[in-house]
Amino acid sequence: MKLLIINGPNLNLLGKREPDTYGKESFEAYFSKLQFKFQEVELSFFQSNIEGELIDQLQTAANLFDGVILNAAAYTHTSVGIGDAVKAIGIPVVEVHISNTFSREEFRHTSFISPNAKGVIIGFGLQSYDLGILSFLKK
Ligand code: DQA
Repeated sequence: MKLLIINGPNLNLLGKREPDTYGKESFEAYFSKLQFKFQEVELSFFQSNIEGELIDQLQTAANLFDGVILNAAAYTHTSVGIGDAVKAIGIPVVEVHISNTFSREEFRHTSFISPNAKGVIIGFGLQSYDLGILSFLKK
């Protein structure tokens, strides 16, 4: 099983950015733990602050991976283009969020990803990514 984790804008700052909301751990440190925990999965990771690069990566993933775990961050709430890409690529995409977006500002309650996602995991801190991976493993 080959899975790709895609993180959107500002998630490169995890560990430093708003630690009360997003925690104190960098994603790189967390990703190493995920690789150790899920050794039966070939995990890859991509992060970009640029909308078009996220779309390019989704399109490329279709030929290379069994599924994608996507945290499009702020683009979740604004990007028709990323939502369309999720619909277009034909492999399952699980949407994840670290924070509970529904307990935050109203503009975070909308997602252009969710209608085309296989499922949505919100608000479990970095553990949202574990749950995203598990969703591909559990039948
Ligand atoms: C986020 C929630 C988004 O609203 C926000 O813009 C982010 C991170 C999360 O993982 O909680 O950057 O996707």
